[in-house]
Amino acid sequence: MPKINSDNCQAIILAAGKGTRMKSDLPKVLHKVAGKALVSYVIDACHEAGITKPMLVVGHGSAEVRAAIGDEVSYCEQFRQLGTGHAVMCALPFIKEKKGEVLVMCGDAPLIEGKTLIALRNYFRESGAVCTVLSAEMKNPAGYGRIFREGTGRVLGIIEEKDATASQKKITEINTGTYCFDLAALRSVIDELDTNNAQGEYYLTQVLELLIAKGYQVNAYLCEDSNTALGVNDRIQQAAAEKILRKRVLKDIMLEGATIIDPKTTYIEKGVKIGADTVIRPNTHLRGNTVIGANCVIGPDCDILNSTIGDNSQVRYAVLDSIKTETGANIGPYTYMRPGTELAENVKIGGFCEVKNTKVGAGSKIPHLSYIGDAEVGSGVNIGCGCITCNYDGYKKYKTEIGNNAFVGCNVNMVAPVKIADDSYVAAGSTVTEDVPAEALAIARERQRNIEGWVRKNKEKREK
Ligand code: UD1
Ligand code: MG
Repeated sequence: MPKINSDNCQAIILAAGKGTRMKSDLPKVLHKVAGKALVSYVIDACHEAGITKPMLVVGHGSAEVRAAIGDEVSYCEQFRQLGTGHAVMCALPFIKEKKGEVLVMCGDAPLIEGKTLIALRNYFRESGAVCTVLSAEMKNPAGYGRIFREGTGRVLGIIEEKDATASQKKITEINTGTYCFDLAALRSVIDELDTNNAQGEYYLTQVLELLIAKGYQVNAYLCEDSNTALGVNDRIQQAAAEKILRKRVLKDIMLEGATIIDPKTTYIEKGVKIGADTVIRPNTHLRGNTVIGANCVIGPDCDILNSTIGDNSQVRYAVLDSIKTETGANIGPYTYMRPGTELAENVKIGGFCEVKNTKVGAGSKIPHLSYIGDAEVGSGVNIGCGCITCNYDGYKKYKTEIGNNAFVGCNVNMVAPVKIADDSYVAAGSTVTEDVPAEALAIARERQRNIEGWVRKNKEKREK
């Protein structure tokens, strides 16, 4: 489907409401589903449809919304939230010079998709109407405005739940809150909205009646997938949207060639990329701008945020935050990797290890029970079980450098700043406080003494 040309089609996203029903300090449109703010999905849908810079009407928590969303949209302010119609009244002066069409959307309806916006706009154009509302059939229409049609099917208007009679409440075709308007026609009636309704607000939905009264044609485009319509007004709808979005993301990922063993327990945020033939095992969370390569096995029980994992890697039972690996990483089980960590090819970080802000060279191994932080580890290094970089003196953090092919024995403390040069060897149990030269053996521990016969003598003394 060809995209919409932004030059003759504007978009207005209503995002000024408080979201009273969320019972929250956070503006409603910033509440997250599948890891992203509600309104971000609506903005994405505009971009997918070809609309480059939608206008966001902000009001409640406006500074917070502007800070969170940034400059991918333009903004206008609705200082008092007097209703959806009033929000559009506030926006129109900012697009005074524009002609053509305008798509109006609600910032609390995250399931809208670019392809639906394009289909709505095409239907609008072909039908010759001045307003097409996107409608949906809902099994449970409670809370939504209902599409009111006469016997012939012609749309007569939208009735809000709170204004509806008992029989109107039985209508199951609802207003999704997305519309395509002819800008000139919209402008010609917007100032005629009134507040004579159950909520005392300027309803955008009243525009339809006003247009019809002027003899204009108004119609509805029924979207195929009623899920598209879901508006998030409370935490229950938030959870419902989360479920649908999660399914959508998993579907796209599977179609791109990754296996998801158990979609029910796999949580992947929109925007995460996964290469072909990668297998995602249960209880895995992939978040932020995470990129997983091809042929990987991820999970079970992983939480991976903003990380890039190279091809042919394996990650089990691990928490990874802002790390990067080349191919062939082998991470876990029970591993915690923190920001600034970068692994070259074929690095192993094993059980009960924590690695922070550390670069590890190709083929190196940190297999068991270690804390390595603020370090640079060369290639071919073996770090024995239970090694610790003592990187913090209570005031500052210091660096540990370990050269290529160094062998650090078990249970070694490396008191930073310290350098362990290439090809050196650190004896198990050492506490290294001075640099170790290349090819040297460092032993920094109490020398062992054996006291012959001590046990027998001690026993005799005690039993006397
Ligand atoms: C609205 C529609 C309803 C539709 C439903 C779809 C009206 C009168 N009702 O109801 O027919 O079925 O959406 O989800 O339009 N907003 C502002 N300024 C305001 C008021 C609201 O910007 O003064 C924004 C909100 O932030 C929100 C959107 O408009 O993103 C919709 O407002 P909301 O209060 O959620 O309307 P609904 O009751 O859901
Ligand atoms: Mg709503």
